[in-house]
Amino acid sequence: MRVLEIIERKRDGKELTTDEIEFFIRAYTRDEIPDYQAAAWLMAVYLRGMSRRETVDLTMAMARSGEILSLKDVLPISVDKHSSGGVGDKTSLIALPMVAACGVPVAKMSGRGLGFTGGTVDKLESISGYRVSLSVDEFKDIARKHGIVLCGQSANLAPADGKLYALRDATATVNSLPLIASSIMSKKIAAGADAIVLDVKVGLGAFMTDLEQARQLARLMVQIGQSVGKRTVAVISDMNQPLGAAVGNALEVREAIECLHDRAPRDLREHCIAIAGQMLLLARHSEGNAPEHALAEYMAESAETLRNGSAFAKFLEVVAAHGGDVRQVDDPSLLPSARLVEVLPAPRSGYVEQLNALDVGLAAVELGAGRERKGDPIDHAVGILVHKKVGEYVTAGEPIFTLHANDEGRLARAKARLARAVIYSDTPTPRLPTFYDVLTGAESDS
Ligand code: URA
Repeated sequence: MRVLEIIERKRDGKELTTDEIEFFIRAYTRDEIPDYQAAAWLMAVYLRGMSRRETVDLTMAMARSGEILSLKDVLPISVDKHSSGGVGDKTSLIALPMVAACGVPVAKMSGRGLGFTGGTVDKLESISGYRVSLSVDEFKDIARKHGIVLCGQSANLAPADGKLYALRDATATVNSLPLIASSIMSKKIAAGADAIVLDVKVGLGAFMTDLEQARQLARLMVQIGQSVGKRTVAVISDMNQPLGAAVGNALEVREAIECLHDRAPRDLREHCIAIAGQMLLLARHSEGNAPEHALAEYMAESAETLRNGSAFAKFLEVVAAHGGDVRQVDDPSLLPSARLVEVLPAPRSGYVEQLNALDVGLAAVELGAGRERKGDPIDHAVGILVHKKVGEYVTAGEPIFTLHANDEGRLARAKARLARAVIYSDTPTPRLPTFYDVLTGAESDS
């Protein structure tokens, strides 16, 4: 098979065969295809698109480029969740202990933050001693013993995606539906999930800023999941403003702990209960087999784990299993804290019409909470607390943000960015919805 021919065929809008896709991905993973040819191929895919069959083949070829974990020997069923990335999204720290407290095991590999979006692994590392890198045997052992694992991604999981993602980043080919869908789904499939809840974010602080695009991405990922025998559901959730109030690693862990004590902001609590309910539904019922009220019951069951303390107990258990300092979970004031804390008052009275998640995320990166390039160090203590959300009224001089910083220059730059993040209105503005849509296998067949 000739690489040049595969590039030409895609350039000319032809449908690639399963063998061509498999060959290309295998050869690229082994460094047998140079980056300039892979970049040309990516651009051809970006411009010409892929059929559903090609996208499934690409997903499976990338999943098979490394190890495919099987958790069958340790878990009866493994339900995974994945967020397409956002600002203040600490859902995994809350929803996974909720699901585990309901008796459904969860074994999740998460990523680090990049750019303005945060990552679960960085948040977990705010807790002293928490080990995010596990061998496969350790991963399985913790899953078996505790019914919950929250760790980083194994290096050999879908390595083709790691290489292609870096190349996409440098060749303006990230924003392609088949490339995003296959990138996300290949990692979920390689991590051994039987069922997957996808949280597709839409809005100013998300990959997809347009609801119709987000629906298309969600539909495509659900179809990929179904085609390879994984029960998959996608929720489309708001990322115009940050989720909850805290943005920044230790601050988000603190907020997650508050939520596990059932003291969370309304949107965060509602979001976590819905995600946990969907995970329980997938774990307990085969496709189309759930009674009508099942989701509502599972959401109520999940909410109960916040009230009765069982989700908090599960979080303590998983932190201890990973070697983390549980005293910081019992007493979050022991988590890393910043030297400079400054309140930013609202410059005028009015209803909050926009609280731009992208600006808040970038301000958090300015403070050092996130990284601009892979491998950059981060400061776990710094970040932002948001005091008002879209639709709320604020009086001039009332706190709108609190900044936690360790450097005066960074603090000044973050303040300047946050000053642009809010638009005020004299007339009442509606609150933003937490969710826009839910797509299940049955609805995504078109
Ligand atoms: N997240 C991924 O893992 N891959 C993409 O292509 C986009 C978001």
